[in-house]
Amino acid sequence: MKALILSGGKGTRLRPLTYTGAKQLVPVANKPILWYGIEGIVAAGITDIGIIISPETGIEVKNITGTGDRFGANITYILQEKPEGLAHAVKIAQPFLGDSPFVMYLGDNLIQNRLTPFLNRFKENHLDAVILLRQVENPTAFGVAVVDETGRVLNLIEKPKVPPSNLALVGVYFFDQTIHEAIAQIKPSARGELEITDAIQQLINTQRHVEACTLDGWWLDTGKKDDLLSANQIILDECIQPAIAGEVDSNSQIIGRVQIGSGTKLINSSVRGPVVIGENCHLEDCFVGPYSSVADEVTIIDAELEHSVILQGASITNVHQRIVDTLVGRRAKLTTTPHRPKALRFMLGDDSQVELT
Ligand code: TTP
Repeated sequence: MKALILSGGKGTRLRPLTYTGAKQLVPVANKPILWYGIEGIVAAGITDIGIIISPETGIEVKNITGTGDRFGANITYILQEKPEGLAHAVKIAQPFLGDSPFVMYLGDNLIQNRLTPFLNRFKENHLDAVILLRQVENPTAFGVAVVDETGRVLNLIEKPKVPPSNLALVGVYFFDQTIHEAIAQIKPSARGELEITDAIQQLINTQRHVEACTLDGWWLDTGKKDDLLSANQIILDECIQPAIAGEVDSNSQIIGRVQIGSGTKLINSSVRGPVVIGENCHLEDCFVGPYSSVADEVTIIDAELEHSVILQGASITNVHQRIVDTLVGRRAKLTTTPHRPKALRFMLGDDSQVELT
């Protein structure tokens, strides 16, 4: 059994962050999203992993993630010149996959459930494919499946106007080698991509055995800001154990589950968990509230924030209203004058969003 993780794509929904970096490397609780997928796959006993990368962000993905040693896996990087669809990614990965069955995992997805029960069902029932489904409130925005009472998938519909069910396709699939024949039969869709849903429909049309499993745990597609903040909240809630490696002065207060990395200084500040703060940060006269993740080398002086994600090297100084539900990109600077500002001065990149609420 092998794994194929898709970490190419355009990442338009997370712009402007994804102009300069891969969306799969955006951290959740200070760990790249992609790494949660790798860890889940290794936990299911699969260690031969291919990762699809793009020319724009591939080198960064490769440099940060490495050969797989840190996960106990062996990672092969596969360059996809253009994001021509999820099925196209499988097509170019064929030399890596060979005739092996594999799990395909979208690199910007996070799921709570362990993969092992789904993998066992795939293997024990000798299925051609297993797709994972999750109940959603707005099925019109997703690929939706029609499933019979035995769990067999009868039909897949992309973004249906009148949804036949509220079961959306989650970005995790198990395939045997018959998927390659199915992909060879399909044509690009109206948006010019080779769609994995069309390939799975082709399997169904040729009487292949495709079954669905429904997730009962959470599923997060971190492609957008609010989803990313929700993912951060959930992971901080579930995974943060207190660990203080940095220096906390006697005027500072730490309440609840908080992690502080080495080289970080906390001066006259309060942190209320769950919060994770990276290494070599400087926090002075500030409050960091629940569900915040602060990456390495961040400066926060005279400011308050909560339910926010601050990326590496950013600085926030003299901001007297509380910052909430915010995502601050790498090296971004956010400041106001010490007195109440009479005017606001910005330098905002394309697709930036500022809400003065
Ligand atoms: P999507 O989120 O469907 O596409 P995208 O990355 O182009 O994002 P956006 O909608 O924000 O523009 O992709 C799901 C995952 O698959 C994501 O991790 C990127 C990856 N991917 C590839 O590796 N190759 C591809 O050809 C496509 C379409 C996606």
